[in-house]
Amino acid sequence: MVQSAMLFAGSSHPELARAVAKELGVPLGQISIESFPDGEIGVQILENVRGRDVFVLQSPARRPNHFLMELLILVDAFKRASARSIVAVVPYYAYARQDRKEKGRVPITAKLVADLLQRAGVTRVLTMDLHTEQIQGFFDVPVDHLYARRLFVKALKGLGLKRPVVVSPDVGSNKMVRKFAEDLKVDLAIVDKRRVNGSVTEANALIGDVKGKEVILVDDICSTGGTLKTAAKVCKAEGAKSVLAVVTHALLINGTEIEGIDRLLVTDSVPPSHKAQGVQVVSIAPLIAEAIECVVSAKSISSLFS
Ligand code: R5P
Repeated sequence: MVQSAMLFAGSSHPELARAVAKELGVPLGQISIESFPDGEIGVQILENVRGRDVFVLQSPARRPNHFLMELLILVDAFKRASARSIVAVVPYYAYARQDRKEKGRVPITAKLVADLLQRAGVTRVLTMDLHTEQIQGFFDVPVDHLYARRLFVKALKGLGLKRPVVVSPDVGSNKMVRKFAEDLKVDLAIVDKRRVNGSVTEANALIGDVKGKEVILVDDICSTGGTLKTAAKVCKAEGAKSVLAVVTHALLINGTEIEGIDRLLVTDSVPPSHKAQGVQVVSIAPLIAEAIECVVSAKSISSLFS
């Protein structure tokens, strides 16, 4: 990495930050983060960042409010310490699902998060598998959007599946899932899911053929597991032989046992769940490091996906 650049880590995902630093062959920047007795966060940057290009990695998962606030405070500290540029490396963009007004009198919190990051002083955002690509438009600074698909497709090709079919667990994921089907050169099916509330989903129909096939369910986020469970149930009712799920942001707040899912493939965009035994984790550290190298050397990031 060029000498002007420095990588720092928030407290949300130190393992990933260390892995990225190792890939880049640089030490993590020195920083102090503490919680005051009343819950406020205090930070101090322990080395000179004046005129430097700072990358700060934070993945605000499971405690989104705390880690977002911590990120904002870190960015403010870098700005006031005269960093030349501040790139928020946010593999998992919290609140991404609140990206539109789908009913009356609700916020667009994904936009609010973008506003807050920019107001704090970020000059660029590096993120991965946003819930919807349009979130990039919530920012007036450049957003580099990475995709885990290349990593997953490589892992899936190594599994030796005989009759795979890629299935979108809801209509919203269809665009992302279609690209998996194209890369794997297999058919696509779609589950017609309806969300009843934050933790309950139901499905009425499956569009496509899964009979006797090895289903690969693809989703950007797994939180309660309700979506995957519902989709797996429909697929098995339609005669699927097995159901494998591929998830970029594995929040897995109810653990890794998801009814109907025989196998789970996830990234480490958020810290692996403490009950993650038996789950295959594909690391995004090399991809994040490659993207950081592209930013510092002004190379094309889209070339990483071609
Ligand atoms: C929804 O549109 C997302 O892509 C995921 O399907 C959803 O967030 C998963 O949440 P849960 O695991 O709680 O069903």
